[in-house]
Amino acid sequence: MTESVCVLVLAAGKGTRMHSDRPKVLGTILGEPMLGYVFRALEPLFGKAVTTVVGFGQDQVRRAFPDHEQGFVSQDEQLGTGHALKVAWEALKSQGRGRCLVVNGDAPLVRGETLARFAAQARGADLAFLSIELQDPGRYGRVLRDSRGRVKAVVEAGDFDSAEHGPSGHEVNAGIYLLDMAGIAPLLDRLGRDNNSGEYYITELVGLAVAEGLKVLAVEAGPDRDLLGVNTPRELATAEAALRERIVGGWLDRGALIHLPDQVAIGPDAELEPGAEVFGPCFVYGRTRIAAGARVGPQCFIVDSVLGPGCEVRPFSHLQGAVVGPGCQVGPFARLRPGAVLEEGSRVGNFVEMKQAVLGAGAKANHLTYLGDAEVGPAANIGAGTITCNYDGVRKHKTVIGRGAFIGSNAALVAPLSVGENALVGAGSTLTRDVPDNEMAIARARQVNLKRKPIKS
Ligand code: UD1
Ligand code: CA
Repeated sequence: MTESVCVLVLAAGKGTRMHSDRPKVLGTILGEPMLGYVFRALEPLFGKAVTTVVGFGQDQVRRAFPDHEQGFVSQDEQLGTGHALKVAWEALKSQGRGRCLVVNGDAPLVRGETLARFAAQARGADLAFLSIELQDPGRYGRVLRDSRGRVKAVVEAGDFDSAEHGPSGHEVNAGIYLLDMAGIAPLLDRLGRDNNSGEYYITELVGLAVAEGLKVLAVEAGPDRDLLGVNTPRELATAEAALRERIVGGWLDRGALIHLPDQVAIGPDAELEPGAEVFGPCFVYGRTRIAAGARVGPQCFIVDSVLGPGCEVRPFSHLQGAVVGPGCQVGPFARLRPGAVLEEGSRVGNFVEMKQAVLGAGAKANHLTYLGDAEVGPAANIGAGTITCNYDGVRKHKTVIGRGAFIGSNAALVAPLSVGENALVGAGSTLTRDVPDNEMAIARARQVNLKRKPIKS
């Protein structure tokens, strides 16, 4: 169906009712900007070939979606949704499609299936839009119908006057339209600002098209809450709760083991293999991948990380941009920062922080340690309190620890530094020189025991 259809997303508004300086469409839901959910719904239908009107905070919006850079159109002054359509019209026309699907960028719950069905139902109409039934029509545009049930117009909430328009019904505009481009083009210049907000409304096209005798259709979606917009912090919270439940439910259906699922949040780009196990409460965000047999304990925050088969992440661990190999153990209370890589069967225990550091297969750093810009060989043992001193105040330097090396407790390894294979570092040492393979280094003051002065009583 989409060969003859192009798509426009309206995302230029400020979102005044969010009380934030950040453009509304960048408000986050499960760690990802709201607008991304609209793009995800469109992707199976249109791929990345989406035109998006941006305006308020447009640099931020463009940066957040580098894949869509080709499709952005600027609406430098946000004069309303009708103006946004006009601004994008030439870019849409140049795509040579007969029809255009227009979607509000603040509808993150919208589903691809709904859009595909709507586009099919709208075939033959010059202008079609989706309508929903709301107990309280609130700030939504009201759909007016004549006595025979035919659509007459959409009247915005701020302009609705029951003396003029009759009692308000429950049918409102969802903000999703299908326009026949040739049929609608002549109406664009007739959009006006003579209304209570002084904005150009895309919805004014409905009444104009009816007056012209064009074929106008409201496709009724009923009480579909997936078509609600997000305009306020409360609506953002409601949308986030609904998407959380939808995504977690999807992974349960595909065979992930999720304990206390009501307390687990999984982002839209995370993936869990069947048999991956997650204990709530916890957050699994970004492009995280959790393999079969991996276990994530409660109270973990995991973003952009890869967890291999059979690994275990114990409670209260914080992982960002980490790779945890098969059979590894992490935490409780571990912090793995970007570039932390745990090779097969290695272990990181409580209050250990890793950043740009590789822990070789079977190596252990079980307590109170910082490994930054480091490479630790297989089967090495990193004692409690070991610190790689990687920063000299200006630059970062690397520490290399060989296979099977043993670092005693409370060692400070001042980088750049290498500790050889099977070398041993005495507890409490501060090392500034390399240790060759198989040697033992002790770098601390020798202990002296002196006679104690007698204690006067
Ligand atoms: C709009 C509809 C309303 C409908 C509701 C559904 C209009 C005039 N009203 O109202 O009938 O019931 O959506 O959710 O369209 N935008 C721009 N440029 C602008 C103004 C807005 O791109 O100059 C974008 C916004 O970023 C937003 C979308 O258009 O994503 C809708 O704008 P918004 O101000 O949220 O419209 P509503 O008042 O919700
Ligand atoms: Ca809205």
